[in-house]
Order: sequence, then C-alpha cells, then structure tokens
Amino acid sequence: MEKSNLAFAVSGKGGTGKTTVAALMVRILSEKENRSILAIDADSDSNLSSVLGVSLNRTVGDVLNEFKKSISKGEVLPTMVKKDILESRIFEILEETPRFDILAIGRTEGEGCYCAVDDFLTDIIDVISKNYDLTLMDMQAGLEHLSRRTDRSVDVMLIVTDPSALGFQTARRIKELAKEVHIEFKKIYLIGNRFKPEMESMPRDEAAKMGIEYAGNIPHDENVLKYNLEGRPLVELPPESPALVATKNILIRIGLLD
Ligand SMILES: Nc1ncnc2c1ncn2[C@@H]1O[C@H](COP(=O)(O)OP(=O)(O)OP(=O)(O)O)[C@@H](O)[C@H]1O
Ligand SMILES: [Mg+2]
Repeated sequence: MEKSNLAFAVSGKGGTGKTTVAALMVRILSEKENRSILAIDADSDSNLSSVLGVSLNRTVGDVLNEFKKSISKGEVLPTMVKKDILESRIFEILEETPRFDILAIGRTEGEGCYCAVDDFLTDIIDVISKNYDLTLMDMQAGLEHLSRRTDRSVDVMLIVTDPSALGFQTARRIKELAKEVHIEFKKIYLIGNRFKPEMESMPRDEAAKMGIEYAGNIPHDENVLKYNLEGRPLVELPPESPALVATKNILIRIGLLD
C-alpha cells in the first residue's frame, strides 16, 4: 500500500518489546527503496538508535536545553522567530543513513510542566515528518505520552503487550486515555510479543474485547536475545529469524507492506 505522510507509533507497558518491534519494522520497511522513512526515538530511556545500529550524538532535548540557555543569556534576539531557529537546529541533528533517517527526542532539563515544550516539539516533529512517507515512533513506556499529548499527530497506534495482565491493562488504558484526551488515532492495533502458539488466542480475544484490531504475535526469538546480549543491531538479523518473519506478516496486516 502506498500512502504518504503517515505516522505510526509503538506504545505499551515497559519492557513489552516496543523498541524491538519498532526496530524490526524499520528494518523491513527500509528494505523497500521507494519509501522514505523517519524513525523517532521518543523514549528518553531508550535505545532505538543502537538497536538500529546508528550512533546518535545529540538529541532534541540537548538542542532545547542549549536553546533555553542561549535565550537566558540574551543570545537569541527577540526579533528571531524561536520556532524557526529550533526547527533548523533539530534538522541539523537528524541522522541520515542510506535507508532511513533517525531522530532521538532525549530529555529536557528542569521544569515540571512540559506543556509548552511538548507543544512546540510536536509541531516541529510534525513539520519534519512531513518530509517522509512514513514516520515510526518508539514511544515511552506507559501512558505519559498521552497526557503530554506528544502523540497527537500520530495516525496509527500500535500497542505491544507481552503475556502479562499489566501488559493488557496498559493497552486498555492507552485506548481509553486517548479518547479522554481527545486524541483520535485513525486506527489502534494490538501486537502480541512472546505469546506461545497455544496462547495466541489471548491477545486476539483481548483486542476484540477492547474494540481494537489484532495485528499478530511476534514469537520469542533466540536470535533477538542473542543479538541483544552481544550488543549487535537488529538490522543485521538473519532474514529467516522468526521475529522478523512475524513482523513482516504484521506489516502486511496493518497495510504497510504488500
Ligand atoms: N520477540 C522477542 N524475542 C526475544 N527477545 C525479545 C523479544 N522481544 C523483546 N525481546 C527482548 O526483551 C527486552 C525488552 O525489549 P524492548 O527493549 O524491545 O522492550 P521495550 O518495551 O522497548 O522496553 P522499555 O519499556 O524499557 O523501552 C530486550 O532485551 C529485547 O531484546
Ligand atoms: Mg524501549
């Protein structure tokens, strides 16, 4: 399916496999040459870039922090449009690879309320992602991204759950909270990670109960475990790896792959 300017986000409880799923998707999708892809690491504690084999020196948070400092030192003149300056600085830290580009959000220092920064950031990410056919975001664990509304321009939300009550509960809350804060995803999918074949009906049934679609299950994969242990990027996984094969099927089901 060829669509332009779509933003997908991967969310779910901590440790369910969000970063793994996002990385496997980027790996598969970036093998298609006719589509430009932006990967966004939106989790400050995360490592999407290293799982994708890219080393990033700076994050959006670093840029924002430096910017705040230069404002307080009076280095930014009132006549300069802050948003434009920030936007161009964020473009500068975007890492380009032959197959996809990647940006890490990182964290901002200081104040308790991020509202203004988050709004600013979401707008800027919006502008940047318009240059790509597909944006894939690896979100923070849990629900905070919804209350901070950093995913308000996301089209499709992919919720990953592992075989745990809390995984399902978080999935349910993500759906409910999105409604409460008026974020309208075009679609929400549930993705199972590490369900054994005999347990596969669980995520399928839970998705039906939640009123969202089930996209499929990714099996436990020894290659993923091994690569993770050895610190090797998942982009190098052998193509026959079960997790990769399953992710391909999920991508077909959610309309991102023919
Ligand atoms: N299908 C799988 N097979 C084998 N190992 C897996 C699989 N999925 C995830 N893992 C491993 O489980 C751990 C957690 O996965 P991952 O980092 O993707 O979760 P996460 O949801 O992004 O976590 P966090 O909430 O901390 O960001 C990692 O060590 C990863 O390599
Ligand atoms: Mg992660």
